[in-house]
Amino acid sequence: MGQTILVTGGAGFIGSNLVRFILENRPDDRVINLDALTYAGNLESLADLMDDPRHEFVHADIADVEKLEGVMPRVDSVLHLAAESHVDRSIHDPSLFLKTNIIGTQVLLDAAKRHGVGRFVYVSTDEVYGELPLDDKSQLFTEETPLKPNSPYAVSKTGGDMLARAYWHTYGMNVSITRCSNNFGAYQFPEKVIPLFVNKLIEGEQVPLYGDGSNVRDWLHVLDHCEAICRVLDDGKPGEAYNIGGNNERSNLELTRMLIDLCGRDESAIKHVEDRLGHDKRYAIDASKIRRELGWEPTRSAWPGALEETVQWYKDNRVWCDHVRSGEYKRFYAQNYSGS
Ligand code: NAD
Ligand code: DAU
Repeated sequence: MGQTILVTGGAGFIGSNLVRFILENRPDDRVINLDALTYAGNLESLADLMDDPRHEFVHADIADVEKLEGVMPRVDSVLHLAAESHVDRSIHDPSLFLKTNIIGTQVLLDAAKRHGVGRFVYVSTDEVYGELPLDDKSQLFTEETPLKPNSPYAVSKTGGDMLARAYWHTYGMNVSITRCSNNFGAYQFPEKVIPLFVNKLIEGEQVPLYGDGSNVRDWLHVLDHCEAICRVLDDGKPGEAYNIGGNNERSNLELTRMLIDLCGRDESAIKHVEDRLGHDKRYAIDASKIRRELGWEPTRSAWPGALEETVQWYKDNRVWCDHVRSGEYKRFYAQNYSGS
């Protein structure tokens, strides 16, 4: 039987891919997409789906109790993605991160609890585990790894993650948590390293590589992530966390060289700049639990193919890139789709 799924942050990178994924792959389900349209929220990413009868957009903050009251009575499940998501911004100004990612999450959990929402999935991050060393590739984050977040962003996500678990433990809410590695794919705001570097390379600029470029990330295609979130929604156990990763560890230097190659530039495009403060060295995921228990595996994340496709998407969508960077389109969408 179909359900109504509230996706928070559905105008962001992963959220917009998830809304599209649900509408394409779960024909009986409806989506209420609740998003505050911060600088990172772009309805242009969903332009072709704005008039879909199974997609309703609500322009609201997750901490707006009144707006939540208008929505929750119709909601069967919540997929909570809305967040301040950029580590560098959190280093410059942590306060909004704590407000949105911790307090906002608590307000949303409370509203879901008040209305007896049947299922709640909190989309967390592998950054809650802190970092792994570069010199021992055998070490991976498992769901049992102690939480040791390093950046203000990671701390704020850990707060939301622990709150979600507490609402299961304390109130018996049906909550599960996903902890995923770095996503790549279409519609990512061009402050994150892949779209930022591709844009700069296309536009003839240098790319600012932090430190010596040895930091390692595990890259997961956003649609593999969307599929995993849906598996957890359907079959994840209450109170449990699930790691999600791409089996695709790369150093930032390796990534940068691949992007340079795909954009027809050379090594002179690299500008080594001062390192990110507290820069986590390596993230690497053991995703055996979700594979074993829910039968999920990444099928779209293998490089070079998936990276080539992503780079091509940014080459083909210059207008989208220009619009989201300028933020000009926002007024149009906010006026025309103000929601309930
Ligand atoms: P994003 O920054 O692209 O999108 C975030 C969205 O949330 C935007 O649409 C924004 O408008 C909305 N938002 C922000 N504050 C809000 C508020 N107060 N009320 C309502 N909406 C608000 O982020 P993303 O990369 O798509 O990440 C989505 C989620 O996945 C986040 O929770 C993030 O922590 C998590 N995550 C991201 C990655 C990744 O690699 N991008 C990896 C693991 C986990
Ligand atoms: O691991 C999951 C996390 O991945 C998510 O929880 C975050 O929301 C998401 O933003 C991402 O965090 P990162 O900090 O890993 O992503 P970012 O794209 O900012 O950086 C990726 C790597 O590239 C990181 O090691 C820093 C480096 N970098 C980044 C930028 C923006 C550079 O060298 N230069 C840059 O200009």
